[in-house]
Amino acid sequence: MALKNGGIVILDYGSQTAQLIARRVRELGVFAALIPYDASAAEAQAAAPALRGVILSGGPAGTYEPDAPPLPDWVLASGLPVLGICYGMQLLTQRFGGQVAAATQREYGMATVSVRATSELFAGLDAEQAVWMSHGDRLEHPPDGFAVIASTSNAPYAAIAHQERRLFGVQFHPEVQHTAHGRAILRNFVIGVCGAASGWTPESFIAASIESIRAQVGGGRVLLGMSGGVDSSVAGELIHRAVGEQLVPVFVNHGMLRLGEADAVIGLGKQLGWRNMIAVDATEEFLGALRGVSEPEAKRQIIGRTFAEVFEREASRLGALDWLAQGTIYPDVIESADTGRPGARRIKSHHNVGGLPDRLKGRLVEPLRDLFKDEVRQVGARLGIPDEIVWRQPFPGPGLGVRCVGEVTWERLEILRAADHLFTDELRQAGLLREGTAQAFAVLLPVRSVGVMGDQRTYDEVIVLRAVTTTDFMTADWARLAPDLLARVSSRIVNEVRGVNRVLYDITSKPPATIEWE
Ligand code: XMP
Repeated sequence: MALKNGGIVILDYGSQTAQLIARRVRELGVFAALIPYDASAAEAQAAAPALRGVILSGGPAGTYEPDAPPLPDWVLASGLPVLGICYGMQLLTQRFGGQVAAATQREYGMATVSVRATSELFAGLDAEQAVWMSHGDRLEHPPDGFAVIASTSNAPYAAIAHQERRLFGVQFHPEVQHTAHGRAILRNFVIGVCGAASGWTPESFIAASIESIRAQVGGGRVLLGMSGGVDSSVAGELIHRAVGEQLVPVFVNHGMLRLGEADAVIGLGKQLGWRNMIAVDATEEFLGALRGVSEPEAKRQIIGRTFAEVFEREASRLGALDWLAQGTIYPDVIESADTGRPGARRIKSHHNVGGLPDRLKGRLVEPLRDLFKDEVRQVGARLGIPDEIVWRQPFPGPGLGVRCVGEVTWERLEILRAADHLFTDELRQAGLLREGTAQAFAVLLPVRSVGVMGDQRTYDEVIVLRAVTTTDFMTADWARLAPDLLARVSSRIVNEVRGVNRVLYDITSKPPATIEWE
């Protein structure tokens, strides 16, 4: 896609913030791809055609360790400008005869760098800047041909530059928000030094995407698994704009959706004019398959398998279909490509659209493969998808099935739905659903507790409220919701939801807990 031409690749050495580097570059309107550190030159060119520069991410290894991930030869041989961040800077240092060693003091947190020499990297920026450091190793001796362009009290060589070869290194992390001029430093590198093309906007993406969907699918029919989440809605609408009635969206209601959600998904299809949308209510089939099962992984697997069966059955009923559309987004692509990365271990078996009909394997249409979530939202807004969908919090594929701890029955789901609705409704009114919480929901526990209501003893269900703040969902903190808000939610749930007499608030972060309970 011409739109991707003239961008940047980021070699991923395993830093938690590697994805953030790509997002920051995208915010400059420049295409950026995150690729494994051992990708070949050809793979790099394929990921970002007409490449203009390379960024080396940070990572947990030490360059002096025997198995340390190396700098591929093509990077320097290409003559492209390079910016090494943290571990990336240490790789450059080592390659040019400098020395890296474990620092006596780990440096973690804020530091002030002083700019020591003129360089394109700090052009137009303050001489003293707050930066975010996170490293255990440091440069003992700068590499040959490099000038020291900034230092801190603990890291005398905090930034280096080889002006002639346009190679730069920074010990701190320009991609994180705490680095005051981080964006400007990245702009100086990406636009100033690399001269990368700036044209990656939601509008240009939509135009290019419509064109490429048309070229890919021709006159074929496209099956879409529609969940009502932002990704499948945006993918569907792009395809609909590209090939109209060739789009066949299938929405499987597994009965574990939130209050009013199934109607909302069907309503959205109508609003967007998706004439061929098919809605299947498979609630009984799912609940039948889940009867008597309470082990979390078993529940997940049954839900995934049943989904695949229902989806496949509906697809075969529809006759000839040529393509399968999915709302895969860039973080999914990165995650599935780098299972060897430290920290990329699967804790739970995730279930998304699931069940590729066999004959459509390899016939995938994935219009959002290159986008981060925030970009998907921007594209969705430009496509006229309503705010409630565009800003919807993530909802797991198995739905309330993993929030109904223990056995999933219709009665328990109804209690959970009602409580969840009251909680999220209060948060919405307080303006905390779009900002303030990244995910907020109710969980139903498989225990009962004793209470008293009026003069009656009760022995009823327990609801847990879960609300977290996070940006990447890999780690999360519990949201510090106001006690008055929690009090209101608690009393509404106990008064309005029959069968519940106790409400708890989950004050565990991730790790050690996960966001969902199962
Ligand atoms: P955990 O519970 O692992 O969740 O901390 C992290 C994020 O992933 C969501 N999640 C899922 N999303 N299919 C999905 O599409 C799933 O099976 C699934 N399980 C968890 C969870 O809601 C949170 O946003």
